[in-house]
Amino acid sequence: MNRLTSYASAFAVVCCSALMQAQQPAARITVQVNKPLHAIGPKFYGLMTEEINYSYDGGLYGELVRNRTFQDHGFGGVANWNLDNMGSARSSMEVDENEGPSAALAHSLRLDIAHADAQNSAAVRNEGYWGMALSPNTTYKGSLYAKADADGFGPLTVSLVNDVTGKTLASTTTTTVSGDWKKYEFNLKTAQITASSNNHLLIAATHTGKLWLSVVSLFPPTYKGRENGNRPDLMALLAGMHPKFLRLPGGNYLEGDQIDERFDWKTTLGPLVDRPTHRSPWNYQSSDGMGLLEFLEWTEDLNIEPVLAVYAGYSLKGDHIAPGPALTPFLDDALDEIEFVTGDTSTKWGAVRAKLGHPAPFPLQYVEIGNEDWFDKSKSYDGRYTQYYKAIKSKYPNLQLIATAPLTRMKPDVLDDHYYKRADEFFDFVKHYDTADRNGPKIFVGEWATREGSPTTNLGAALGDAAWMTAMERNSDLIVMASYAPLFVNVSPGGMQWESDLIGYDASRSYGSPGYYAQALFGEFLGTEVSTSQSSNTGDRFFYSSTADPAKGEVYLKLVNANSTPQPVSLEFAGTKALSKSATLYSLGGTNPAITNSIDDPKRVIPVKSTVKVSSTFEHTVPPYTVQVMVLRNR
Ligand code: AHR
Repeated sequence: MNRLTSYASAFAVVCCSALMQAQQPAARITVQVNKPLHAIGPKFYGLMTEEINYSYDGGLYGELVRNRTFQDHGFGGVANWNLDNMGSARSSMEVDENEGPSAALAHSLRLDIAHADAQNSAAVRNEGYWGMALSPNTTYKGSLYAKADADGFGPLTVSLVNDVTGKTLASTTTTTVSGDWKKYEFNLKTAQITASSNNHLLIAATHTGKLWLSVVSLFPPTYKGRENGNRPDLMALLAGMHPKFLRLPGGNYLEGDQIDERFDWKTTLGPLVDRPTHRSPWNYQSSDGMGLLEFLEWTEDLNIEPVLAVYAGYSLKGDHIAPGPALTPFLDDALDEIEFVTGDTSTKWGAVRAKLGHPAPFPLQYVEIGNEDWFDKSKSYDGRYTQYYKAIKSKYPNLQLIATAPLTRMKPDVLDDHYYKRADEFFDFVKHYDTADRNGPKIFVGEWATREGSPTTNLGAALGDAAWMTAMERNSDLIVMASYAPLFVNVSPGGMQWESDLIGYDASRSYGSPGYYAQALFGEFLGTEVSTSQSSNTGDRFFYSSTADPAKGEVYLKLVNANSTPQPVSLEFAGTKALSKSATLYSLGGTNPAITNSIDDPKRVIPVKSTVKVSSTFEHTVPPYTVQVMVLRNR
């Protein structure tokens, strides 16, 4: 695991000076190595995010042009676009509500060019999502829809320009713009430039007249070279968490504030010009570039499974559709959606998926009915879930259907519980599932997070996260899946709607919070079974999880010391003679709970890898404010 390279510096200082301090009373943990308590589900840890904090637009989704369809405009003008009249050129711009390239996009940006010529071009520039990250010797794939008031308007010059130097870093021209809407494609290739995100896109005309523009798009190279794809650095961070599923498309984002602002999946398919875009409940317009197929391709690229949340007739501001005939069209949409994901090409929606370039169906085991329906004051969820359950199960009996609120009339297959807490609250909450009813529904902890630190969480939150993960692993006979939320935040000014996120980024850089590294470790060393164990004297700020992967011959012990003092622990690994004499130890810790990573200091708190001597019984000390994962060989 190259990502977890050894950074001895700051952590070593903490570690040694801490050993001089007062310490906790010694705890004792005995692991019965060859005695599994229960299996851990194969999809235990996964991913959950949505269009929040510029997670997709301005985040994972690779598009560089912001407000590419000019939906965002008003009193302040056209957001993220400005005029750039060179020399004696004169033009004005406004959104034209009566002229657009498609039924979905019935408006566009109109440029009224009073004067322009070859030496004096009238241009518009796009500032991107807090800049446009450009790298040397890289090809950027672009396209735009344009129409002029007459044929023979001439070509457009499309360029990438540095904000600081004003230098053109790449430039090309389109063919001459015609009097009808047409798509123009182009490539912009940089030379040996210095990588930076202080750049913008410029579209220049040298002809007097009217010019309309729409769907102006520019993509850098994407993860696995996907068209309309994702940012490679953010995908790599996600892969580093070793997830097994993606809960999609949200969250509140599934529901929308109003019913007509829900994630209406059918309007997110196909060419970008056919996607009307929609308002996200997090108060900005979603381009819907991350449409249903893109979500699914994201799962494919990470080799994980979708957990599909379908809209179920309740939206955030309280509107709901009563169960019965009024709900049927929404239920039909959900059935179509499942068919789009899983149907073969002989089915109507499977054929649509194939036409969009993906003939193979996607795997699907879990479908979630709505989101956080405990908010529905009308108490209609029992009826809505039952209606969805009957219809979906009769067509897809093998699907597991997740309820988002407790039901009174029936037992759902799985119940989605959400927890957002402070670290101390999680420390006090770790026994929550230990005594939960094992005859009730299985549990999906579909959203959880320790909310300390902003924009991304700090070490204190990582300790809360790790304590909670030990509790979830221990209860993995009941809990089938768990996903932290939200994952992403664009840390640029105004990029955040929800504080305390796991992964931060700007236009060109990205980093993981301490909690990210805790999850990466827990994900990588999850194991396939929980081992029988006993403990004593662990106090209320020391937590552990003991799991194993017999097929790999590995035993994992996770130790979380949230105390400000070292935690000695007597360890016993009983029931095996095959334990090797040394183990790998990953330690993630720091001087105090507030220490954190940031966009300018991304690796202040990261795991430190070392080797420790082990035997069937030995003494070990966990430094203060530290998460450790011990990997022992048992073969
Ligand atoms: O993760 C942020 C929000 O928290 C989700 O959209 C919602 O489901 C929950 O309330």
